[in-house]
Amino acid sequence: MKKSIEKAEILLEALPFIKQFFDKTIVVKYGGNAMVSEELKEDFARDIVLMKYVGINPIIVHGGGPQIGETLEALGIKSKFFEGQRITDKQTIDVVEMVLGGKVNKEIVALINGHGGSAVGITGKDGDLILAKRHRKMKVSPETDRPEIMDLGLVGEITQVNPKILETLDNNDFIPVIAPIGKGENKETLNINADFVASAIASALKAEKLILMTNTQGVRGKDNSLISALTRKKVASLIKSKVIRDGMLPKVNSCLEALKAGVAKTHIIDGTIKHSLLLEIFTEKGIGTQIVDK
Ligand SMILES: Nc1ncnc2c1ncn2[C@@H]1O[C@H](COP(=O)(O)OP(=O)(O)OP(=O)(O)O)[C@@H](O)[C@H]1O
Ligand SMILES: [Mg+2]
Repeated sequence: MKKSIEKAEILLEALPFIKQFFDKTIVVKYGGNAMVSEELKEDFARDIVLMKYVGINPIIVHGGGPQIGETLEALGIKSKFFEGQRITDKQTIDVVEMVLGGKVNKEIVALINGHGGSAVGITGKDGDLILAKRHRKMKVSPETDRPEIMDLGLVGEITQVNPKILETLDNNDFIPVIAPIGKGENKETLNINADFVASAIASALKAEKLILMTNTQGVRGKDNSLISALTRKKVASLIKSKVIRDGMLPKVNSCLEALKAGVAKTHIIDGTIKHSLLLEIFTEKGIGTQIVDK
């Protein structure tokens, strides 16, 4: 009996959060690096179904870096990165679209539906959800020490989000699962970092929360320990000192952009911890790093 009462009390602890997020949108970026075991993937799917059944509208944007890397390797195509973004040529984009839009996307859809949810998998091309242009980055040339344009190839920078398809899905209680692919100015397929896609969608929908699930505790500081809250100013200094680098760069920038656009809260959490999503949403303390706009 005592155990049953304890269980009821645990449920009640979630009540303030269930009230707070009822009928609100939470955008979850499910990092390719967080999809490490079958068990964790099943747990993630169940967490999403639970969110939906308590009245939250979860929207999932997924990554798939490691999964793309594996397929490219199997095909003998080399992967190259610049500041956490994959340099993408024509051959690579075909693999990116197949792996993200096909394999990874449909796996997540099937997992959610297997736990009683109604997920629908789309890419940024569906309903023109994500329009983009080719992203050109500046870098300092090691030879001349001058800034030059770094061409990342078929990598997109988001220019427009058309959320109508998401509203249509939400009106019919579907859970959208989005692969981070956009349509370019010449209808070409563009590979977009999923953190940016999640941020742009959260911004367009003025989501209540943006949660980026990855494979580290959150943002780590100079001494390698977890930083539980980070301001805009602190982010800038950690980027400058290269403590925040590679795959963490798009994450912190995505959070800051979403905050600027009116998303209430942004978090970077460890998706390799069982039920990390529920811990973040339904507990007072939360987990990981919260990025705040100060
Ligand atoms: N200061 C930092 N704190 C924590 N992780 C950091 C930091 N700086 C860089 N990183 C790196 O960022 C990585 C997370 O980004 P990464 O792009 O690899 O994963 P992901 O975004 O979850 O997956 P995907 O890109 O497939 O969606 C960490 O594994 C870590 O190596
Ligand atoms: Mg990444």
